[in-house]
Amino acid sequence: MLIKRRAGWEMPESEATPERAFLDRRQLLATGAGLIAGAALPRSAAAGTPDPTLDLYPARRNERYALDVPLTKAEDAANYNNFYEFGMSKDIVDASQRLATRPWSIQVEGLVEKPFEIGFDDLVRRLPLEERLYRFRCVEAWAMAVPWTGIPLKSFVALAKPLSGAKYIRFETFLNPRVAPGQNQRWYPWPYVEGLTIAEATNELPLLVTGIYGKPLPTQHGAPIRLITPWKYGFKSVKSIRRISFVAERPKTFWQALQASEYGFWANVNPAVPHPRWSQASEQVLGSRERRPTLIYNGYGDQVAGLYKGLEGEALFM
Ligand code: MTE
Repeated sequence: MLIKRRAGWEMPESEATPERAFLDRRQLLATGAGLIAGAALPRSAAAGTPDPTLDLYPARRNERYALDVPLTKAEDAANYNNFYEFGMSKDIVDASQRLATRPWSIQVEGLVEKPFEIGFDDLVRRLPLEERLYRFRCVEAWAMAVPWTGIPLKSFVALAKPLSGAKYIRFETFLNPRVAPGQNQRWYPWPYVEGLTIAEATNELPLLVTGIYGKPLPTQHGAPIRLITPWKYGFKSVKSIRRISFVAERPKTFWQALQASEYGFWANVNPAVPHPRWSQASEQVLGSRERRPTLIYNGYGDQVAGLYKGLEGEALFM
């Protein structure tokens, strides 16, 4: 993963769109609604129909998760993305619109009382959504802070009813090389897979994210549902999840399969442990010229440091 800086980073704050007025410009143009931005609704890329979960947004904000850094502008977050299925650049907004995010269902399988498949639109009405402000830190040393909307992963785990033999959760993205050109690049171990221990997954922090800035998730951010683990490097936060498996063995993750010497299973943020090719001591703030110091566990040590007691021999920070 290499950092490519876009000119947009240099944009003065005064020229940026206020986040509450955010609408994905490109998505609007694609649906022909660009001229009436204030009135336009997010649409599903597939059918051009209004998003059937719109009434759930904005969700109630959980004030426990406040920020000590400024919120990133929605437009900055929405136009600088990693989604290798749609290319290796940060500019994948247009390409990602080819992903049909409806109908969408999630397969829940493995060591659970009863495997099941659940439609995304059913899931978001089954478990309450909430909004949280989280820091986000990419392994490439850029960072942002955004309001995510989602389902606490621990509520989803309770719904899935794992058996006692389940020690890990494996998350898998869609596989469709016809819409995702990156998936034709055979040297990548598609589909994108990530994993957490059950202890991590039932911590208070991980969210199954369905929205951002008070609206359903745009495709480039991983619609309709993605993971967010704010104390880990961003590559753990797998997008567009299709399959969630409860397993006994530690899953082999996408980046680990590709380059195990640089990207591990744990990937907890730590300023003192450099990536083999660059320092992690500081981070470039998305949408600004500022660099700020990186925080251990990205600032979430109080909530998560205890998860790693007894695991000090593991490569916890790569
Ligand atoms: N999920 C999938 N399926 N494919 C990806 O390429 N990139 C990861 C993560 N999830 C990625 C993914 C990386 S490296 C980062 S930093 C974040 O998504 C970026 O999320 P964002 O584009 O919403 O900021």
